[in-house]
Amino acid sequence: MTSLGYINGRFVSLEELVLPIEERGHQFGDGVYEFFRVYEGNPFMLEEHLDRLYRSADLIRIDIAPDRDELRAIMDELISRSGLANGDIYLQVTRGMAPRNHAFPSVPSSLTMTIKPWRELAPAVREQGVQVLLHPDERWLNCHIKSLNLLPNLLAKQAAVEEGCFEAVLVRDGFVTEGSSSNAYLVKDGAIRTHPATNHILGGIARIAVRRIAEEQGIPFLEEAFGPEELLAADEAFLTSSGIELVPIAGVHGRGAIGSGRPGPVARAIHARYAELTRQR
Ligand SMILES: Cc1ncc(COP(=O)(O)O)c(C=O)c1O
Repeated sequence: MTSLGYINGRFVSLEELVLPIEERGHQFGDGVYEFFRVYEGNPFMLEEHLDRLYRSADLIRIDIAPDRDELRAIMDELISRSGLANGDIYLQVTRGMAPRNHAFPSVPSSLTMTIKPWRELAPAVREQGVQVLLHPDERWLNCHIKSLNLLPNLLAKQAAVEEGCFEAVLVRDGFVTEGSSSNAYLVKDGAIRTHPATNHILGGIARIAVRRIAEEQGIPFLEEAFGPEELLAADEAFLTSSGIELVPIAGVHGRGAIGSGRPGPVARAIHARYAELTRQR
C-alpha cells in the first residue's frame, strides 16, 4: 500500500510528481480540481464528482482530454496500483504547459492525480463539535467552479486556525455562504437550512448526499440563506465536505454556543446515514 501519483499518462511516485515550471496551474492557478474519497476501493458519489469536474472545466473553457470512461479507468488503475482500499484522491486539470501568456495557448490540457491514505478526523471532532470563525467572504463571483484558485479560502482558514477554530464560516452581504472548504447548515425547528446552490457557493457533493438523506428521513431541506444572528440562534449547525463528511458546529468564536453546544440529533442522524451510504455498494 502506497501513496501514488499520476501525470498525463504516467503513474509515478509522489516524489517524482514534479511539474514543469510553465505548467499553467502553477503559473496562474489556471485549472480546476476534484477531491474524491475512496471507501473500500470505491470513490463515493463518483458520478456526481465527475459531473462537477467536467462542468467546472467547461465553465473555464478547458477541454479535459480523457472522456469520462477513460478517466474512470485511470482512477481505477491508480486505486489498484496504490493498493489503498481507503484513500483520498486529488485530481487537477489545468490548461496545460506553455510559455507564460495570459491568453489561452493551443496545447492539450494536463491531468494530474494523487492518492494517499485517508486523512482521518480525530473522533473527538465529530463527537464534540467544533468552533468556527465568522470571516468575510472575499472570493470572486464564480464560487460554483471548483477552481484551483483558493487564496481567499486559505486566508480565511488560516485566520480560523490562528483563533483555535476548525473552520472559517464565510459571510457575504450579511449572509453565511459556506465554509472555506465545506458547506454550512443550520437546523431550526426541525428543518435544515443552507445557502442555495448559486454562484456564491461550491455545490458540495456531500451537500447533495445531505439533501437526499433529509428527503429520505422527512426532514425539510430549505435552500434559504441565513445570517450570523440566525446561525447563533439555531438549534444545531453543521459543516459537510467529502473529506470531513459531517462535523457539528458547537459554537462561533467570540459569539457563543449554538444550541446546547453539543452535536444535536439532526446532525447525528444525518451523519449516521451518510456513514451507512459510504459502506453501500
Ligand atoms: C469552498 C468549498 N465549499 C464546499 C466544499 C464541499 O464540497 P464537497 O462536499 O464536494 O467536498 C468544499 C470542498 O472542498 C469547498 O472547498
